[in-house]
Amino acid sequence: LLTGGLLCLGAAGCSEVSAAPEGLEAGEQLYIYCVQCHDDNGSGNQQFRAPALAGMPSWYVVAQLDKFRSGARGDHPDDVDGLRMRPMSRTLKSQDEVEAVANFIETLTPTRPERTMKGDAIAGAQLYKACVQCHGAAGEGVKSQAGPPLIRSSDWYMAAQIQKFKDGIRGTDPEDKTGAQMRPMAMSLPTDKAVNDVIAYIMTMR
Ligand code: HEC
Ligand code: HEC
Repeated sequence: LLTGGLLCLGAAGCSEVSAAPEGLEAGEQLYIYCVQCHDDNGSGNQQFRAPALAGMPSWYVVAQLDKFRSGARGDHPDDVDGLRMRPMSRTLKSQDEVEAVANFIETLTPTRPERTMKGDAIAGAQLYKACVQCHGAAGEGVKSQAGPPLIRSSDWYMAAQIQKFKDGIRGTDPEDKTGAQMRPMAMSLPTDKAVNDVIAYIMTMR
């Protein structure tokens, strides 16, 4: 881990790095490996199917990175996007590094994802009642239920994840206890219309 003091980066020369807390500085350095797909402000990149991360709580980011590292997420042969993320998670060499990068991601200012899908938000509001217990009435997430915030996520990413839960590509690994909690909820959205509607409602909450 970096300990502050002088940091020398090749041609860029040396700069003072004592301002940020030690862990955050280390996390920022590790985040360099994530920028290519998740962008330097953490806004994600639809072209690479990489979700927005900025402002995601560190407890959730740590949990997901642990799953990618162990193969509990992103290891299914049909999970094209997960298979792209999984080796990236393994560039983090230790639990300290996982926590450092997650702490840094939490400090990034959430971005406002553009809408790419259409749905009926009024119908979606009814459907969302079933989600409140774990994702919160304002989509802010419920840590005690391991439910992540949804308000920072892009519509296309949420749709893809719900489809993966339905298809058993996410949330079926025996080690993935919290994914297993979400899976029946995804299956309770019977049609593409229901999925689009609930996402349309989530997009109004931000
Ligand atoms: C090569 C592109 C790529 C790189 C580099 C990359 N990621 Fe990802 N990441 C993805 C993709 C694609 C997904 C979506 C996986 C899915 O659909 O399940 C993802 C998903 C994630 C998620 C899950 C978010 C959620 O809401 O569940 C986290 C956390 C994450 N990445 C963190 C990181 C970190 C930290 C790094 C740097 C160490 C990193 N990623 C580097 C492509 C990348
Ligand atoms: C019983 C609790 C519970 C309920 C109810 C629930 N979820 Fe979830 N949801 C979770 C958990 C836990 C996760 C994270 C799974 C993991 O750790 O991989 C999750 C993950 C998700 C994700 C993926 C987020 C990401 O960043 O990858 C989406 C999208 C989602 N839920 C949507 C919904 C919607 C829409 C509803 C209502 C129809 C709903 N959930 C109801 C527990 C729940």
